[in-house]
Amino acid sequence: MILSGKEAKLLSLSESLEGCQRCGLWEGRTNIVFGSGSPDARMVFVGEAPGYHEDLQAEPFVGSAGKFLDELLKEILGVPRDDVYIANVLKCRPPENRDPTALEVDTCKPFLMQQLEIMEPDTVCTLGNFATRTLTGRREGITKLRRKPVKVGALYVFPMFHPAAALHRGDLYEEVRQDFRSLKEFLDSPRPVDEESTQRELF
Ligand code: URA
Repeated sequence: MILSGKEAKLLSLSESLEGCQRCGLWEGRTNIVFGSGSPDARMVFVGEAPGYHEDLQAEPFVGSAGKFLDELLKEILGVPRDDVYIANVLKCRPPENRDPTALEVDTCKPFLMQQLEIMEPDTVCTLGNFATRTLTGRREGITKLRRKPVKVGALYVFPMFHPAAALHRGDLYEEVRQDFRSLKEFLDSPRPVDEESTQRELF
């Protein structure tokens, strides 16, 4: 099989992570969850960390939040999951799905950044607080930052509620859908140049 340049670079990066013990999460993981989807995707979705099903299957977003994400992609954006790329801030599952620690984020973030450098997408949709904080450096919560795209270097970061939020709190179901509608509007319209929201580098 002949791999494209991006595929080959992603494969080599994922191979460089095999057996990773840079932080303590290796002890509890079944698999490293590197990311999946099209290396040529113009849009990348970034979640927090693998959960139970992702750890077992070595694929991001394959549990209930993932099923909901698939639905939102198809129904609202009109794209199958294979047309985008999906990854997480952390590549290994934290025990009991606890929040990532600052050390774990600092340790794993360079690999997410390398994935983005290889793919050069136009838009990175950050799902929830951790991904948004990691990619923008902003400390405000997702409720404040959602639906406000931030230009970071050559790409836009589009903060959104995490789809799992709707599974934990039924009242957020419509809000999560609304975030995807706003993303669709953003993708369909000319890119705003808002110097206020421009950062030179990915945080
Ligand atoms: N939640 C995440 O943030 N990532 C996954 O891969 C699955 C659920």
